[in-house]
Amino acid sequence: MMETTNADIDMSSLKSALATTSLSQQMISFANSTFRLAATAISRLQQQQRCEAELASLAHLPEYSLEQVSWHDRQDDCWIVLNDKVYNVTKLIHNHPGGLEVMMEQAGRDATLAFRSVGHSINAIEQVDEFLIGILPAKERMYLRSAK
Ligand code: HEM
Repeated sequence: MMETTNADIDMSSLKSALATTSLSQQMISFANSTFRLAATAISRLQQQQRCEAELASLAHLPEYSLEQVSWHDRQDDCWIVLNDKVYNVTKLIHNHPGGLEVMMEQAGRDATLAFRSVGHSINAIEQVDEFLIGILPAKERMYLRSAK
């Protein structure tokens, strides 16, 4: 019969300690994934709530389709779309710090990506409200989508 030595006992407690550590690591990793999933779900929910709140605050505005916006593509009658909202920028284009030309390239169009790619300041982003006149119809919206 084999004798159990001190070395065997040490090995066995080492193995059991390793198994416990590995189990704890798996549990921590599982908890981390669950936490990340919950955080993503909460963030999506908050984003949706902000979107619903914004839609409610815009409900009084008339709807203009992209086609209707396209009719206003002149220096004396210039509309653009930013984030599904319609802006009459006729009064801005001649004083626009970025110049008239860039604005006229977007006249009558969805200028969301062009506006974002410039990296306008918070001040500029706040200024746009002044020119708001309407919103796109629900079927043409890309950003302000209701979950209802
Ligand atoms: C209602 C709409 C818009 C408002 C109120 C607005 C406002 C401004 C303001 C205040 C600036 C000065 C810099 C800053 O504060 O960021 C600026 C710069 C500029 N904007 Fe706009 N903008 C509008 C739309 C657009 C659009 C549609 C374009 C198209 C690409 C555009 C292109 C530029 C460019 C190229 C500059 C110069 C950036 C620079 O020199 O660094 N803007 N705009």
